[in-house]
Amino acid sequence: MTTSGLKKMGREEAGYIKYLFGRHISKGQVRYLRCAHLDTLERSRQGCFFVEPTLGEKFFDCFSSAGCFNVGRSNPEILKALEDGLDDYDMGSFQMLSVPKIELARKLVSTCPGDLKRLVLCASGADAFAGAVKLAKGATGRNDVISMNKAYHGHEGFSLSANGKDYYKHLFVPLMPGVHFVDFNDLEAVRRLASEKIAAVVLEPVQGEGGIHVAGKEYIQGLRRICDEHGIMLIFDEVQTGFCRTGKMWAMEHYGVTPDIMFTAKSISGGAYPNGAVVFREIEPLMSYVEANPFFHTSHAGGTDLGCIVSSKVIDFLVENRVWENAARIGGRFKEGLEQLRKDNGDIIKEVRGLGLMIGMEYEYEFVGALMAECLARQRVWAAYSGNAPQVMRFQIPITATMEEVEDLLRRIRSAMAAMRWYLVFLLPLARVPVFRSLLDNMKVQIFSFNLVRDVEDFVLRHVLRRS
Ligand SMILES: Cc1ncc(COP(=O)(O)O)c(C=O)c1O
Repeated sequence: MTTSGLKKMGREEAGYIKYLFGRHISKGQVRYLRCAHLDTLERSRQGCFFVEPTLGEKFFDCFSSAGCFNVGRSNPEILKALEDGLDDYDMGSFQMLSVPKIELARKLVSTCPGDLKRLVLCASGADAFAGAVKLAKGATGRNDVISMNKAYHGHEGFSLSANGKDYYKHLFVPLMPGVHFVDFNDLEAVRRLASEKIAAVVLEPVQGEGGIHVAGKEYIQGLRRICDEHGIMLIFDEVQTGFCRTGKMWAMEHYGVTPDIMFTAKSISGGAYPNGAVVFREIEPLMSYVEANPFFHTSHAGGTDLGCIVSSKVIDFLVENRVWENAARIGGRFKEGLEQLRKDNGDIIKEVRGLGLMIGMEYEYEFVGALMAECLARQRVWAAYSGNAPQVMRFQIPITATMEEVEDLLRRIRSAMAAMRWYLVFLLPLARVPVFRSLLDNMKVQIFSFNLVRDVEDFVLRHVLRRS
């Protein structure tokens, strides 16, 4: 993607677009993003980058829409499959049989270990969460579910009930009853709750929004044993971890454990056409339940023909190019570079952790999440902090990235860190006083103060430096 010859968008026009976004969608969202310098417009997109139209410059996409762009932005092979598909297909009728649905089903289960050979097609991650939990409840005839603190499975009914952060759900109670929360990686807590009442234990093998926490091998193997002992369905949410993100096709492969049910979404779309799936084992009671209730979970947007054509191409692309190997190799180097940064900045960075190209960098202070996002944006890097843990910056770059791109990214991150040091000269002493620290960590204070800085900057650019 070259930026030369691209017609730049004037600041007035960009401002008007942001105004319209605020007017018709959400002013609060614009202000929230603006405070961390994330109110960027995206124009052309390719590989690891998108072009910001007012600057006419490429931004490194470290967010990938929370892990949707594993195959890279606007991957030409995926877009071509969609274009070709349009010759013969539309969405299709959701209950009718079709070749694209069968092709995707066969390809998807061929990538899954063990007897994960059956599936239900869905529209999104939250929809797939609901499908997976309904399957476990319907098949076992039990009601209760064990979920994890800090978990994120989506913003809708069932998935919201299992969200490990009260902030998102306290206004909407009562939600689905019978959800028990335990700490991630705490096997004893699950053992204490395990009983004939529990239909399922559901977790992300690597928590994404929760701040990139990797499940231990013994923990996952222990969960498998507990579930077997009590007839509980073990469910993995592979919405972010799937499709090579962690250095294997599925994160479950790191543990040598097959869950009874797993569900996925996001990168199955190739960043081009949303889709999702619940994949389950050919075992009782799952099989009998689904055969007796074939419409237990359907939606018009789940498993559309065009979506399935795109998803089939995504799987071909990943398998033919063995992209999981790239995620492991590039992820190893990226993590090593961030680890060096942590050693050099031990007063600000607490920990670097992750698997493959699902990497989190935890800061000592929550407010540093927004501050670092701002400094990264000035280095033309778009990176967001975790929804359920603002002190953790997530790096989920497209897994098609090259080593040169990762070296370039590390250089930009180092520059952002150096720039942030200037702010910290004032802010770190304040952060050591509890009352100021709680103010700095307060999201409303951040939104107000950072927007003020941007207002002053815009004023100087427009009226003093006279840049349009
Ligand atoms: C692990 C996980 N599960 C489920 C979801 C929900 O997916 P969707 O946004 O498609 O509903 C997300 C979205 O961020 C996720 O990260």
